[in-house]
Amino acid sequence: MLNKELEKALNDQIKNELYAAYLYLSMSAYFTAENLEGFAHWMRMQREEEIAHAMKIFDFVQDRDGRIDLQALDKPQSDFESPLAVMEAALGHEQKVTQRINELYELAVKHKDYPTQTLLQWFVTEQVEEEATAKQLVDQLKLVGDNSAALLMLDRELGVRTTAE
Ligand SMILES: [Fe+2]
Ligand SMILES: [Fe+2]
Repeated sequence: MLNKELEKALNDQIKNELYAAYLYLSMSAYFTAENLEGFAHWMRMQREEEIAHAMKIFDFVQDRDGRIDLQALDKPQSDFESPLAVMEAALGHEQKVTQRINELYELAVKHKDYPTQTLLQWFVTEQVEEEATAKQLVDQLKLVGDNSAALLMLDRELGVRTTAE
């Protein structure tokens, strides 16, 4: 049986992952409006990945005989200054998620809940990857600067992403 405080925190994290999906979907729409379909596609893949993260926790809570209590999602940012501003926002968001995963882990340790710790270990590893990927795109967009040929090249590259991993 799940501890109540932990159950609440896991429900909060389901919301955080779904919000991330919502944010990436909004970012995808921004890129489509900017005619950057590769970036838009990449953001759609990110969205799928975040839905999968939410479902991982959703299933876990129920497997542990906990109760799901879905929450309202905030409106995601929909307008951005530039592709670089989008990726910086994405990186900032991933850093916040990492912080929350770490806090959740601490809570699981406090309650000596080993299955939750095991679940969260997957998320700890995943966040390293997520931050690294976002950081790399921020750096690449900085290199691109205002060179539109380089931006289109990067767009093509992102357009071939096939899996949400
Ligand atoms: Fe996530
Ligand atoms: Fe993420």
